[in-house]
Amino acid sequence: MTDLIDPFGRQVSYLRVSVTDRCNYRCVYCMAENMTFLPKSDLLSLEELDRVCSAFVERGVDKIRLTGGEPLVRRGIMGFIENLGRHLKSGALKELTLTTNGSQLSKYANNLADCGVKRINVSVDSLDPVKFHEATRWGHLDDVLEGLEAAKRAGLDVKINAVALKDFNDDEFDRLIAWCGDDGYDLTLIETMPMGDIGSDRLDQYLPLAEVRAQIEKHWTLDSTDYQTGGPAAYSVVRETGKRIGFITPLSHNFCESCNRVRLTCTGNLFMCLGQDDCADLRGPLRMSESNAALHDAIDRAIGQKPKGHDFVIDRRNAGPAVSRHMSVTGG
Ligand code: 5AD
Ligand code: SF4
Repeated sequence: MTDLIDPFGRQVSYLRVSVTDRCNYRCVYCMAENMTFLPKSDLLSLEELDRVCSAFVERGVDKIRLTGGEPLVRRGIMGFIENLGRHLKSGALKELTLTTNGSQLSKYANNLADCGVKRINVSVDSLDPVKFHEATRWGHLDDVLEGLEAAKRAGLDVKINAVALKDFNDDEFDRLIAWCGDDGYDLTLIETMPMGDIGSDRLDQYLPLAEVRAQIEKHWTLDSTDYQTGGPAAYSVVRETGKRIGFITPLSHNFCESCNRVRLTCTGNLFMCLGQDDCADLRGPLRMSESNAALHDAIDRAIGQKPKGHDFVIDRRNAGPAVSRHMSVTGG
């Protein structure tokens, strides 16, 4: 089977799969409080998701990240992850990982490690329990901290994601860096991206990471590194803690040149770019027959349309979402 090379010569080797659009949290930058989720009948079954993932693995994808919504709230998800683990055992897949809010980790960390998962990303926007609850609307910091302990005991490498929010956690970065240093986590700071209606004005939330970095550098020494995860973050090492800090700046910096990824939604839409609305339907071809020929054709056509890049802007004229779907549809 041929590798997936897009029209700009980029090889697609990384598939992100949003296994559900649902979540047990309602983070203020991600969702409105009252969300209408997809009807369950629109979802790909876990067997179908496995078929699509396996088709991508056949085409040279060697890294899969499960996201959501919250991937660990989908019923039967551990069985699905266990099954995907066969591609790790065969060596076809180098990495199977997930992005989670951490709330279910005390239950699942051991299982995940048993399935061959080595690293996970966990979102923690604030270490103040009251603020954490404010940011997530429905979340409790204690659950996540317990989950992180369980992950550590299970031997999982953890990277913390924190979304930088103006007048909210801009006084907490020192604390986050120190905490990550003490507990052995890498940290990635993320700018808010204009995705989906969230029932408030994004200009109120947007905090450019260039400012954050300048502030951080007053107290910490950031040594540049060429460490790359195949993602858009630019990493440095915090000299004082020895842990990495990454900055994801989709708005102020373009990282499209080296983009190696595509995103599958839980209904079988394949998005070739996070910042654009174009997508290809894989559910139709998947359900057309038990053979994967139509599916592979559809994947080829989709990769042939991967755009060069995106163009997010948050300014006074463009305060609405750049793309209409929420992050929880395609998962970060
Ligand atoms: N902008 C930036 N980050 C977001 N996330 C979710 N929605 C947004 C958004 N609109 C973050 C989550 C998680 C990661 C996958 O993306 O906090 O850490
Ligand atoms: Fe859920 Fe993650 Fe969105 Fe928060 S950011 S509501 S945890 S999907």
